[in-house]
Amino acid sequence: MEPLQVTIIGSGLIGRSWAMVFAAGGFRVKLYDIAQEQLTTALENIRKQMKEMEKSGVLKGALSAEQQLALISVCTDLKAAVEGATFIQECTPENLELKKKIFGQLDLIVGDSVILSSSTSCLLPSKLFTGLKHVKQCIVSHPVNPPYFVPLVEIVPHPETDPSTTERTYALMKKIGQSPVKLNREIEGFVLNRLQYAVISEAWRLVGEGVISPTDLDLVMSDGLGMRYAFIGPLETMHLNAEGVSSYCERYAEGMKLVLNTFGPVPEFSGETVQKVNQALSEKIPVVPKVLDARRKWRDECLTGLAKLKTQMKS
Ligand code: NAI
Repeated sequence: MEPLQVTIIGSGLIGRSWAMVFAAGGFRVKLYDIAQEQLTTALENIRKQMKEMEKSGVLKGALSAEQQLALISVCTDLKAAVEGATFIQECTPENLELKKKIFGQLDLIVGDSVILSSSTSCLLPSKLFTGLKHVKQCIVSHPVNPPYFVPLVEIVPHPETDPSTTERTYALMKKIGQSPVKLNREIEGFVLNRLQYAVISEAWRLVGEGVISPTDLDLVMSDGLGMRYAFIGPLETMHLNAEGVSSYCERYAEGMKLVLNTFGPVPEFSGETVQKVNQALSEKIPVVPKVLDARRKWRDECLTGLAKLKTQMKS
């Protein structure tokens, strides 16, 4: 049977990663960009990553790197790019006007069954899709960077998105090995960034107030909370840390409220605290492209190892 085809619009960091995830799932992938040189770089980068991963035994999917690479083609003509696609994943820069323009163009050339999905990190579906003829087929599928190693995808519908679009997107994400979650309605920051910003915000206040150093603050997460959060969420943590959630609330509600009531206002993320955090982090990881890239590579290796461990622990 001919593999199903997806189209990726934008071949930057996220577009490349989606292309690899879909190719690993056996899909034919058409990668579209306005800049030919961007596509050339993207293909080279994908080839390099796939070969390296194959060598170290962490390439995803049942196909070899060459077989997966053969599934990916590039294109600078939008109409030709979307021809035959069952799913279109937009990955252009985070700019509302640009994305609206692209969805407006897509709206004019697609049929009634393809799903139009955006990777946007924070633009609300009602801002992106309102007024489109194919709004029922539109959805946000927000990945986490790098999607190849971190499987979560937040699926966020527009108020007029057809439930079947949400279900099909959810099923597709499962099929390619991602871990989708459904939001019942749109909300600023979706869920992942709301949680992330809550953590960043308290981290910032604690460092700003001199309670703890930036390096130790990060350790609280990487050697403390993060150890369990890779396996169980905050709600299951409550459940397990007492005799169920009700018992946790009976025991700890007052204590939690006492602490929560001492939280400060939303930080400005400017001034002295920026310097303090920047200095500490730059001492540990100098802001030099080579050093940053090496650290990102190490992070991705850690995530790959963690993904393996998670699979083992499930079985
Ligand atoms: P990027 O800047 O790396 O890539 C954007 C790509 O879009 C470039 O290849 C550019 O040539 C192309 N492009 C620009 N205008 C275009 C047009 N009119 N038509 C087609 N292609 C066009 O951006 P990145 O980081 O890949 O982000 C893409 C989307 O993914 C954004 O919406 C971002 O918010 C979202 N996202 C990013 C994450 C990240 O950590 N980088 C994480 C999750 C989502």
